[in-house]
Amino acid sequence: MTSDLFSSESNASDQGVLERLAYLRGELQRHGHLYYVLDAPELPDAQYDALFQELQALEQTNPQWQTPDSPTQRIGGKPLDAFTSVRHAVPMLSIRTETDTESSGAQAFDARIRKELELTEESAPVEYVTELKFDGLAMNLRYEAGILAQAATRGDGEFGEDVTQNIRTIGQIPLRLAHAPEVLEVRGEVYMRRDDFEALNERQRSRIAQGEKGEKTFVNPRNAAAGAVRQLDPAIAAQRPLSFFAYGVGEVQGTFAVVTHLELLETLRGWGFPVASQTATALGAAGLIEFHQRMGEQRDQLPFDIDGVVYKVNSLALQQRLGFVSREPRWAVAHKYPAQEQLTQVLAIDVQVGRTGKLTPVAKLAPVFVGGVTVTNATLHNEDEAKRKDVRVGDTVIVRRAGDVIPEVVGVVPAAEGTSQNRGAMFAMLHQCPVCGSSAIREEGEADYRCTGGLFCSAQRKQAILHFAQRRAVEVEGLGEKLVDQLVDAELIRTLPDLYRLGFTALAQLERMAEKSAQNIIDALEKSKQTTLPRFLFGLGIRHVGEATAKALARHFGDMDAIMDATEEELLAVGDVGPIVAQSIQTFFDQPHNREVVEHLRACGINWPAIEASSSAPKPFAAMTFVITGTLPTLGRDAAKDLIEAAGGKVSGSVSKKTSYVLAGSEAGSKLDKAQELGVTVIDEATLMAMLSSEP
Ligand code: IVH
Repeated sequence: MTSDLFSSESNASDQGVLERLAYLRGELQRHGHLYYVLDAPELPDAQYDALFQELQALEQTNPQWQTPDSPTQRIGGKPLDAFTSVRHAVPMLSIRTETDTESSGAQAFDARIRKELELTEESAPVEYVTELKFDGLAMNLRYEAGILAQAATRGDGEFGEDVTQNIRTIGQIPLRLAHAPEVLEVRGEVYMRRDDFEALNERQRSRIAQGEKGEKTFVNPRNAAAGAVRQLDPAIAAQRPLSFFAYGVGEVQGTFAVVTHLELLETLRGWGFPVASQTATALGAAGLIEFHQRMGEQRDQLPFDIDGVVYKVNSLALQQRLGFVSREPRWAVAHKYPAQEQLTQVLAIDVQVGRTGKLTPVAKLAPVFVGGVTVTNATLHNEDEAKRKDVRVGDTVIVRRAGDVIPEVVGVVPAAEGTSQNRGAMFAMLHQCPVCGSSAIREEGEADYRCTGGLFCSAQRKQAILHFAQRRAVEVEGLGEKLVDQLVDAELIRTLPDLYRLGFTALAQLERMAEKSAQNIIDALEKSKQTTLPRFLFGLGIRHVGEATAKALARHFGDMDAIMDATEEELLAVGDVGPIVAQSIQTFFDQPHNREVVEHLRACGINWPAIEASSSAPKPFAAMTFVITGTLPTLGRDAAKDLIEAAGGKVSGSVSKKTSYVLAGSEAGSKLDKAQELGVTVIDEATLMAMLSSEP
């Protein structure tokens, strides 16, 4: 600091400048926290910018009072040649990981803890903190005298890299802390939100399109975050939107009076660090299992990626007693979910023909276990996507399968990391249907090529049958791809009604078809005749009529004939239906053979309970929430859900105090227990049907 700080002449005005500097920094920090961490800004952006510019100007004219924790210092460092290696004051350990999909990981952890603590069966359950396992990069933030002095990656746990310049650019990370211990290391995860990742890739794509050199898109938020953290130019890092969650501490010197892990997290939150709102306490193995399950259900809806949950013993005294074993704390464990992304090899790229004749490029993959199933095929969506991702035979690719979504190829792993330099030819779309040889065309403004063969194309026939027979449509149990292939190839069925004309003898004569299986199919076909209007309508496979639209149509019109005869105007009166959908429905029913299919199916005995058109239909279940559990005697779960929803009720996946009824069938499990525990009324299928038919 220069001597004029102490020169007597400038003292009065200096005092004013210093006060203003302190005020501006304080305000900018407070509003930054409101904006970045709490997502609740109190100042319009323009006013924030005005304060920021005033501070910048004041610091420029008074460089002697520049401080490292000033909000102006987030961006502005010079590009580095390399990162400096730093030794962690307290090693950054990893934690033991359990990867099962069931509950045994949580049970085993709780059992180990109880054994270590010498608890008996009579002792109270152990209290844990349950956290999300964020899919980003571990970071150590070192504060000295309350000021962010250094940010380092985990590295090998003992030595990491000094990435302070880049970490300063993260608006969520405080540059200074009020009333913090002399030395405080905060540990947590740097990650990228999914929406920020999408927006970043969108920007990258337009840069590439504009011919900017050296730009690329990122395969997932984790990679994008890792790239940003290890970016040598902090100006570039600043353009990569990163976020942070705190989950622990490293070295602490000075007073830090907390006795539980949760209190520790609360204290960090008080200093301005983001702590995930899902963080909670749980009692015993049952509490852990419940959290694992609940977060597993919410996983796909979170704004960021997680790869599991983490359990930690809440009491810090007990943590200390438990200690460490082979560089892992005994008091914590990560309970992972099945990975949603894996690497594998592309064996071939095929073109498949869908129900509506859509041609889809599909990568045939070396089998890989991802998202809880073994995947051998992954969609490349369409010609443009396949070209953009430039997937070729022999490439190493990242495959993703999240939730129920069909597996997709996220991208190719670059040459250095596995993909060969001498790659095969670029994918080229077929101009002829690979199944029936009809020409395939891509209409102006459409993304897809379509086979023009219609029901002449056996691929389209097969898909139409599979679509009709699927669980969400009329549900013919056991009628899968292989059987439909056999039936269509042997010309035993051409149209949907042919399904119901299949005899036991014809079925039993098929290759690899045991008598028992043939009888099962006959029984399943019989059972499928009892359906609901929305399922039947959806099953017809009218282009643009998905489940939701089918439900809306059924509710609005109440019966099939009204839908078949509806004018465009009448169709447009349905909430879910726009001009394209209305057109598609009319085109479908304009074809005499489609009407014939409906007639023949009805003649074969397909039927559904009548529903009243919505204008007059009563809503006996309005404002009621149902949970369905176990196997119902006649209705499939989806059919039961349709009926409840048609009557205005909601169907939820978990039982709470707000649940109106639990609809239970045989082999109902934990949901039934939960209902009994909470005193929620449990009903069976017969009661449901009675409730539906009784007058409100
Ligand atoms: S605690 C001593 N909590 O998972 C305990 N780690 O091996 C140290 N991670 O790469 C870790 N979310 O970065 C902890 N809520 C969480 C976490 C978490 C993600 C990462 C961590 C490390 C790995 C643990």
